[in-house]
Amino acid sequence: MAANSDLSAARQFHDQTTHTPSSVRTSGHALDWDIKPFPFKVYTKLSPIPLPRTFELPTADTLGALAPATFPPAPRLTLEHLSAVLYLSAGVTRKKTYPGGGEVLFRAAPSTGALYQTEVYVAVGAVDGLEPGLYHFCPGDFALRRLRDGDVRAALAEAAADPSLARRAATVMLTAIYWRNTWKYQARGFRHLYWDSGTMLANLSAVANARGWAPRLLTGFVDADVNRLLGLDPAREAALELVAVGPEGAPAPPADALPAISDETLPLSSREVDYPSLRQMQQASMLPSADAVRAWRESAPPAPRNPRRSLTPLPPARAEAGRPLGETIQHRGSARRFSEASLTAAELATTLWWATRWVDADVPPGLVDPYLVVNAVDDVAPGAYRYWPEAHALEVVSTGNYRADSAHLCLEQALGGDAAAVIYFLAPLDALLASFGTRGYRLANLQAGLIGGRAYLAAYGQRFGASGLTFYDRKVVEFFSPHAAGLDAIFVTALGRAVRPPW
Ligand SMILES: Cc1cc2nc3c(=O)[nH]c(=O)nc-3n(C[C@H](O)[C@H](O)[C@H](O)COP(=O)(O)O)c2cc1C
Repeated sequence: MAANSDLSAARQFHDQTTHTPSSVRTSGHALDWDIKPFPFKVYTKLSPIPLPRTFELPTADTLGALAPATFPPAPRLTLEHLSAVLYLSAGVTRKKTYPGGGEVLFRAAPSTGALYQTEVYVAVGAVDGLEPGLYHFCPGDFALRRLRDGDVRAALAEAAADPSLARRAATVMLTAIYWRNTWKYQARGFRHLYWDSGTMLANLSAVANARGWAPRLLTGFVDADVNRLLGLDPAREAALELVAVGPEGAPAPPADALPAISDETLPLSSREVDYPSLRQMQQASMLPSADAVRAWRESAPPAPRNPRRSLTPLPPARAEAGRPLGETIQHRGSARRFSEASLTAAELATTLWWATRWVDADVPPGLVDPYLVVNAVDDVAPGAYRYWPEAHALEVVSTGNYRADSAHLCLEQALGGDAAAVIYFLAPLDALLASFGTRGYRLANLQAGLIGGRAYLAAYGQRFGASGLTFYDRKVVEFFSPHAAGLDAIFVTALGRAVRPPW
C-alpha cells in the first residue's frame, strides 16, 4: 500500500476508537499512577541555555491577534520575543497542589487531561541573541537545549518541500510524545495529539501575529526526514506541524547531509505501554518524499457543503475584546463548572467569527463543520444549529431545550449541559480522506483543535469561559442528523460562564 493511501486505516482507526456508553463502561482501563509519565522531556547531557524570564507580554488586543497580517512585520526576531512566544504557547503559567501533595504544572495552552504531550523545537537561523542551530524548548526549567550546532534551515526546507523555510528567520516545530497521552487515553490519544497541538497552535499563531512574525503553518512535510532532523525515536514521538516565523533573509547555505542524533533523555516512567494502532495510524499518514509533499499540497478539498434552509445572520463580531492577548493567555484556564448563565448573542457571534477565521497555512480552511447546541444565548432560541463561517449566520437544525442531551453527548459531563453554547465540530471524514489521503484524518482533528483553541482565546478575551470536551462519537452525529448524516464527530468546545473563574 503506497504511503498516505490506506484510507481504510484511518476509517478503521476512527471507528475503533469511538466512545460509546458501553465502550466507556466496559473499557476496564485503570490508570497506573506508578507509571504516570513525567511531563517534561529532559535531555540529560545537554546544557540548558536559560531563556530570559523578563519580557514584555503582547499588549495587542486578543481578538486582533487572531487575524493574520494586521501587525507591522517585525524586521528582526529577538531572543526576548522568542521567550514570550514559547512561554505563551507552551510555558508553565500556573501551579496547582492537590491534597496529598500531588502537583500539576498547568501550561499556557489547554491540553487533554493536562498531560502535555506536545513538545516544541525551534530551527533558528536569524534570531538576535541566539546562535543558529536546532533547539528543544523545555518549559520545566524554561530553557533551550541545542540539539544541533549550525543552521539546519536548508535541510528543513528540503524536508518540508518549501524553499521559503531556508529564508525565514526561524521555524517552530511541534511534536508529540505518544506515551504521555496514551497512559490515560490509550489509542484514542492519537486524536488528542492533533487536538492539543491545535490548541497550542492557536496560542502560537496569535502571539506570533501580535509580534509581526507572520506565522505560516505547514502540515505537509516528509515525516521521516523531520523526525530524523529532530533526532526523535519515531516509535515514541513524531513531528506534527511546522510553523515558519519571522522575516525572510538570505537563504541558509545548502544542507550537508546531517548526521543522525539521539541525545539521551530521562525516561518518562519506569515502564511504557505501546499502542501499535496509534503508531500505525501515524505511520500510515506519512508523506514519503518531497515530491509527495508537493503533490499533496495541491489536493483539492472536498466540495463545500451548502445550507439547506434559510440562514439567520448573527450580530457582527466585535473588533476588540478589550483584553490584551498576554493577559488573556496568562489568566486562561478551562472552566471546570459552568453556571447556567447566558451569553449575549454578540459574545457568541464574536467567538464563532474569530475562531473560524483562518491562519496562513498550506491547507485550506473549512475542513470541519461547526454545529452548535445553544442552551442559553440571549436572542437565540435554544436548539441545535449549524454555523456557516462565510455567511456568519446560523442554520436551525432543530429547536428545543437540549441541555440534558448535550451533557449526555459530552460523555455525560455536566459541562456540556451547563454551558451556554457548545460547538460540536463534525467533518466529512470520508471525503477528507479521499482528498488528502490518510493524512486527512490528521487534518480534521488538527483543524478542529485549532478552531477550538481560537474559541478559547476569544472566550477568555471576552472574560467568559471555555473547555474542550470529549464525546460519544455516533450519538453526536445522530443528534444532528439527518442534517449531519454522513459526517463524523471530531471535537467539542463548550462556552459559558464559569462558576469559579480559573484564578
Ligand atoms: C482537546 C481538549 C479536550 C478536553 N476534554 C476535556 C473533557 O472532556 N473534560 C474536561 O473536564 N476537560 C477537558 N479538557 C480540559 C483539560 O482538562 C484542560 O485543558 C487541562 O486540564 C489543562 O487545564 P487548563 O486548560 O485549565 O490549563 C479538554 C481540553 C482540550 C484541549
